[in-house]
Amino acid sequence: MTNFYACEYLSKCGRISHQKFSQIGLAKSNFQEVYKMDRSYRVAIVGATGAVGTTMRQILEERAFPIASLKLLASHRSAGEILTFKDQPIVIEELTHDSFDDVDLVFSSAGASVSREFIPTAIEKECLVIDNTSAFRMDADTPLVIPEVNMQAAMRHQGLIANPNCSTIQMLMALKPLYDEVGIKRIVVSTYQSVSGKSGSAVIELVDQTTAALEGRPITCDQFPHQMAFNVAFDWPFADNGYSEEEMKMVKETHKILEDDTIGVSATTVRVPVFFAHSESVNIQTDRKLTADEARRILSQARGVTVIDDPKSRSYPLAINAAGQDDVYVGRIREDDSIDNGLNLWVVADNLRKGAALNAIQIAEILDQINV
Ligand SMILES: NC(=O)c1ccc[n+]([C@@H]2O[C@H](COP(=O)([O-])OP(=O)(O)OC[C@H]3O[C@@H](n4cnc5c(N)ncnc54)[C@H](OP(=O)(O)O)[C@@H]3O)[C@@H](O)[C@H]2O)c1
Repeated sequence: MTNFYACEYLSKCGRISHQKFSQIGLAKSNFQEVYKMDRSYRVAIVGATGAVGTTMRQILEERAFPIASLKLLASHRSAGEILTFKDQPIVIEELTHDSFDDVDLVFSSAGASVSREFIPTAIEKECLVIDNTSAFRMDADTPLVIPEVNMQAAMRHQGLIANPNCSTIQMLMALKPLYDEVGIKRIVVSTYQSVSGKSGSAVIELVDQTTAALEGRPITCDQFPHQMAFNVAFDWPFADNGYSEEEMKMVKETHKILEDDTIGVSATTVRVPVFFAHSESVNIQTDRKLTADEARRILSQARGVTVIDDPKSRSYPLAINAAGQDDVYVGRIREDDSIDNGLNLWVVADNLRKGAALNAIQIAEILDQINV
């Protein structure tokens, strides 16, 4: 399943050559599809060739989001290449400050420095921007939104909404229903993060490293600080307090999204040689006692969450099954008797979908539905 999904993903990243473009004889223009709906949007994807941008394009295809035109933006390296949307070719354009002149809605995922440089221009040009990078997540004026958790925050947007980090999204999808029911004092989380959470190039590097290792050839590391094939590693810059930036994102973003600084959050983030979907071991201490059965019942009613929890039949969430799916999967729910009101959960989700592209598109869909 993972290999199938990885192959499908890698082929979907593929671009049609200039030659093929001229063979099919189509003019250089943005894809135009006018849906028979009252409102439709001129959409731009910034970082359209990347792992998140590719998934964004796939999900926009799958869902009935009202698109009037789609502009695919990337760096000068990709400009002029062709991608397809609903079987129509679209020429990738280089991102410039003029890119937003004829755009209403921007999905941005080209890295934090690109967001810092270009998003202010997009806002100035009255676009609504939903940003997947960390550039503005902690700004007081920027809502940080998971629709199922804190959609109300999005209503206060001033042209920009930030998508949280992928690891934070799936953790809070699982914890918010429990937090609402019994309160949470403390969260201890360890992540097992797939390489697609780093970039499309990281996926390709893990394929190359794995092949090289199996063939006895030397392994090269361009994307990762350590060999990733057949290894478990730390993959993020470290802050002065010894925690990685990824770990501190999980702490700060949890406080901001839940609007509750009193929750203790301790995170250890780890990269594993898995292509798609992050897994998390989450231990919580709740304010009031919650049994494992009660937690299962609450989570089985939560939107966007699926409980798979029958260990005796080896039924629990697995990354290979979550890859390509929209829900956040929760299992291995156990009471932790080593502390008062302790609970353990295993949480798995596709980092490129709910952890990034899907979450951003859901925000736009809801804003469209409520006409904001
Ligand atoms: N991967 C995930 O699961 C995930 C989840 C949540 C958030 N994010 C965040 O989303 C962002 C993108 O992640 P990714 O995994 O999609 O990375 P990626 O695969 O490396 O893609 C990066 C994209 O940005 C474009 N880009 C780079 N420099 C640019 C520039 N100067 N101007 C315009 N476009 C530029 C690249 O275009 P070229 O092809 O032309 O170089 C490519 O389309 C990152 O900030 C990441 O932290 C990722």
